[in-house]
Amino acid sequence: MNKAYIGLGSNIFPRKFFIESALRKIALEKGITLKGRSSVYDTHPIGNSLQGRYLNSVVEVETSLGPHELLSRLLRIEKTLGRVRQGKNGPRTIDLDILLYGDRVIRDNNIAIPHPRMHERDFVIFGMNEISPMAIHPVLNMAIGDIHNKRQMKIIRTPREAHSYVSSLRQKGRRVGFVPTMGCLHEGHLSLVKKARCENDVVAISIFVNPAQFGPREDYKRYPRNFIEDKKLAKRAGVDIIFYPDTKNMYTPTHSTYVDAEDISENLCGRFRPGHFRGVATVIAKLFNIIPADNVYFGQKDAQQAFIIKRMARDLNIPVNIRILPTVREKDGLATSSRNAYLSKKERREAAVLFKSLLLAKDLIRGGERRAANIIKRMKDSINKNSSAKIEYIAIVDTAGLKDIKTLKGEVLIALAAYFGKTRLIDNSIIKVK
Ligand code: PAJ
Repeated sequence: MNKAYIGLGSNIFPRKFFIESALRKIALEKGITLKGRSSVYDTHPIGNSLQGRYLNSVVEVETSLGPHELLSRLLRIEKTLGRVRQGKNGPRTIDLDILLYGDRVIRDNNIAIPHPRMHERDFVIFGMNEISPMAIHPVLNMAIGDIHNKRQMKIIRTPREAHSYVSSLRQKGRRVGFVPTMGCLHEGHLSLVKKARCENDVVAISIFVNPAQFGPREDYKRYPRNFIEDKKLAKRAGVDIIFYPDTKNMYTPTHSTYVDAEDISENLCGRFRPGHFRGVATVIAKLFNIIPADNVYFGQKDAQQAFIIKRMARDLNIPVNIRILPTVREKDGLATSSRNAYLSKKERREAAVLFKSLLLAKDLIRGGERRAANIIKRMKDSINKNSSAKIEYIAIVDTAGLKDIKTLKGEVLIALAAYFGKTRLIDNSIIKVK
């Protein structure tokens, strides 16, 4: 049996259908066993940029077929999916390339293995790094993981440079994804980077602990910072650009313009952290101007923040597509957060009650309960009984305006904040109620 890697690409709609159909057909071939597949990447066409964008993916197979026979099976599959060969880099329903075949190096009239440009194509390196970082490129004599780690990552310190660099990429037709963060990166942040990696050609993140969003008695000074580690994690996740400004480059001494998304900022955390969302909306408006991205990524973990940013971008006509992605959790359900590091062992153990209370709410709703007050009371009881947490608030609101509701109907947000010792944790759940 030989291990081989196959690259798949499609730029004729429906692209996803062609990729999935090709995969199914490969799996059905005698002598080929599918062993693993990467994520699907949306990529800029190589060469002729007037063509449509591609979807690409990589699969690992085990095969008893020789390389020439494997190739002829792949060509047959291309044909059955309507591929018409229109010269180099023409549009195609499906393109199937052998990337690696064991450690073989083959160059003849029909076949070139390893694929001569595989190491220059981001999707190949990202995809193979996901499924098989230890695979060796026999010509470069390097592991795929090492090729991945050799990609350049640019660190930019000033807004002016960030803007001109990202603008020039956009002008070249590159799709840019952007993940704003305050650093101290964890799996929650990295899930946003991963999505951005799949949907864009270039991924930028910002690392900036924004003083404007911390209250006078909050943890601005104490907030964890670890740029060295962040750099490593970002590189491993395939980030292309880190925007890492100094505070003085973001806020000049005479800074006096703020963005306030009225109304939607008032309830929930806004009631207890006056000025917080004004600071968030301001820095995000600035970051959207500094990094003119196509897509930006936020976590549902900070649901009110994400809703406010959507509202702000709509109201101020900022042309960016805002994506809100699910909360990443620890094994016991606690939402992953930089602030979890503040918790003592006992507090950390107890903190899982927050997620459990959200599950309890879900159960009650499934059982027919629709009265917000009853659900909130049951959640409070369960947290108080099982922990020493001090609940700041538990609220059930509509997702359009974040206003308290009495009776659950349509899409609702159940949100809460609680203190474990000095550490304030938040969590939430969005539920569609029939
Ligand atoms: P920070 O707390 O660093 O979070 C950056 C992004 O990661 C936010 O969109 C947040 O919702 C998301 N995130 C954090 N924990 C997550 C988890 N467990 N699962 C999924 N996503 C998670 O939020 C901020 O920074 C700042 O307020 C910022 C938006 C950068 C403005 O300064």
